[in-house]
Parts: sequence; C-alpha cells; structure tokens
Amino acid sequence: MVGVCKETGKNEARVAITPEGVQKLLASVDEITIESGAGVASSYSDQSFRDAGATVADSRDEILSHCNILLAVQAPPVEDLQKMKEGSVLLSFIWPLQNSDYVDKLKERNISGVAMDTIPRISRAQSMDALSSMSNIAGYKAALLGANQLDKYLPMMMTAAGTIPPAKVLVLGAGVAGLQAIATAKRLGAVVEAFDIRPAVKEQVESLGATFVEVPSDEDTESDSGYAKEQTEKAKERQQQVIHDHVKKSDIVITTALVPGRPAPKLVSEPMVNDMKAGSVVVDIAAEQGGNCELTKAGETVHHNGVSIMGPLNIPSMLAFHASKLYSKNVLSLLDLLLDDGKPNFNFDDEIIVNATVTHGGELISPFVKENM
Ligand code: NAI
Repeated sequence: MVGVCKETGKNEARVAITPEGVQKLLASVDEITIESGAGVASSYSDQSFRDAGATVADSRDEILSHCNILLAVQAPPVEDLQKMKEGSVLLSFIWPLQNSDYVDKLKERNISGVAMDTIPRISRAQSMDALSSMSNIAGYKAALLGANQLDKYLPMMMTAAGTIPPAKVLVLGAGVAGLQAIATAKRLGAVVEAFDIRPAVKEQVESLGATFVEVPSDEDTESDSGYAKEQTEKAKERQQQVIHDHVKKSDIVITTALVPGRPAPKLVSEPMVNDMKAGSVVVDIAAEQGGNCELTKAGETVHHNGVSIMGPLNIPSMLAFHASKLYSKNVLSLLDLLLDDGKPNFNFDDEIIVNATVTHGGELISPFVKENM
C-alpha cells in the first residue's frame, strides 16, 4: 500500500500526490491511502482523491503502520518513522546533509529513505527534478512579492497625469529561481539586471531580455557538477563593489544565491541597504539558508531606513496547488523508475536510484551524500 499523510510542517500547504497522480499511480500499485484532509490546504478535496481511486482514511497511525511506501513533501517527524514498518520506503525531501540525526533514524529503523533533493541533475532526471520545480515557483513568487511590497508601478506608464518610468529590478543569483524571477519581473514591465558568479548564465540572462552585470574575474567559479563554488576573499571584494553600485540604483533586489552545503553567501551588506532609496525592497529567498542580505530575518519583513527586507520561508507552499501538482509529477517520474511490478526495486547500477537512495537495509547508500557529508 502507498500512503500519503497530511504534512505537519509549519505553513506547509502542499500534498505529495494529487488526484491526477493517484489515478496514474494506480496503474502500477494496488492501493493508495490518503489521510483525510491531506490535500485541503492545496485545494484538493478528500472527494477528489476518492474519485481518483484512493482510499481516504482518518487514522494517520494506521497509514504509517500499514504502508510499504510513504510519500511526503517534507520529511515526516521522527515519531512517524517510529510507527512505520521496517523495510518500508519513505520518499520525500530529506536534506540528508543538514539532517544527519534523521538519516541515523532511517538507518536504525531500516527504512529506505529516498530523497527528492539528492536526485542528480542530469537530463534523464529532469522530469523528477523537484528542486527545479520548486525553485521555479520560488523565483516567480519572489518577483510578485517584491512587486506587491513596492509602492511604485513596475511597468512604464504613460498617463494623462504624466509618465512614470519603469521600476529597476536586480536579481542576484541566476539559477533556476533567479531566471524565473527575471522572466516574471520582465513580464511585469520592469527593467531587469542580473548577476551570477557563473559566467555561463550570461547568455540565459540576456535571452530573457535582462542585462547581465559583469564582474571581471579570473577565478573558476563553477564546479564540475554545474553548481557555484565558494569564492576567494579578493574575488568577493571586487564583486561587492560592483553589486553595491547596482543595488543602490534598484527598486527591487531579489536574491537567490546558494552554494550547496554552505550557508548562503552574503551579497547585500548593511551599507548597501543604507544607500538604497526609501521605499525599495529586498526579497531574499535564500532566507532559509541564512539569507543573502545581512539584514534578513527569516520569515519576517524588516524595515530599515525605509527599505523593506523580506525573508519569506517555504515560498513554494504559497502556490500550494501548482507546487503539489508539479511535485506529484516529479514523484511519479521517480516511482516509474523505482517500481518494478508495483514493488520498489533498488537497482544501484542506476545513477539516479543510487544517488537518491539515502538509506537502505540500515546502511547509508547515496554516493552524493557520502561525498558531501
Ligand atoms: P542554486 O539554487 O544552488 O543557486 C542559485 C544560483 O546562485 C546559482 O546560479 C549560483 O551560481 C548562484 N550563486 C552562488 N553564489 C553566488 C554568489 N556569490 N553571487 C552570485 N550568485 C551566486 O542553483 P540551482 O538553481 O539549483 O541550479 C544550479 C545549476 O544546476 C545551474 O547550473 C542549473 O542550470 C543546473 N541545473 C541543471 C539541471 C539539469 O541538467 N537537469 C536541472 C536544474 C539545474
């Protein structure tokens, strides 16, 4: 039986599978049981799950103790692991590098922990890439949050009462979230600039109609896996000067810069914020990893000399209907690879399966996790 429980995380409105996902998954598994109300916060009713063929149950404990595979968005609390069968599978975000105690619990309970966040980012895994699906939502929503907080128009307005120039938006970090923030701010009519330490993204930024902020550097800033590398102090200083000039001219600064396994790099300092115009906005979507702005407070909007610094948490949950729909598709794609005749088949010769499998048979498996722990 495949089980899906209500998410317990604070402000978590997503659900791991949608009714559409249930219908598709029932082609390969016999039974799917959903905890009553699990989809309500993302606008999927119990009835819509029943109509799709799922069983809806009131007792969470019963689902946990009977399921062979538990699907979740966030890793469920340790008490839930305690109730699951030995040898069962948990498929969710796990963030094993940040949660080693949780990984130990999975090993101790002999639960196969399959992490949506350690799937390798290779072409074959694109349909399973929940990190990208969720980052895409975060970037889109960040632009809207900034626009909503700003006391100005974003597009140029030519009215009988006068002409209003377009707002200036600066996006720092042009990965999946940053590129979507650029695209959204452009659609809203802003003039957009972006910076990333990986020069390879220049072309992508420009193809969205934004200007790439150049910082001359002779350092290699991209790792073999395509992520950003930690920079030297000299390079950081040079970068800070250029960013400072652009931050002070911007109405909205959206920061999305991350380095895997490290705290978010501090890109926007207090003196930079001091130089911003009153009414300007910083939307720091790296708040969860410590923030890209020195003044960010996770989960809060700080007001500093007339500038609002927003540190929203769990942004994908703000778009819970579509976030669940995309996550459900990512989960189904991974299950398609993992299941053989409806049962999990841990084929560790497969690069995706072996890296996504954090624990199995009481052992740590994922080479990605082992290398980075
Ligand atoms: P991320 O969320 O880890 O980081 C966001 C961005 O911040 C990155 O573009 C990074 O270069 C940038 N950054 C880090 N430190 C910075 C600094 N000091 N200043 C400015 N920018 C900084 O990255 P994300 O969005 O998860 O993507 C990482 C890479 O993976 C990208 O190259 C992306 O194209 C690639 N990717 C490949 C996929 C595939 O082939 N299936 C799928 C998704 C992403």
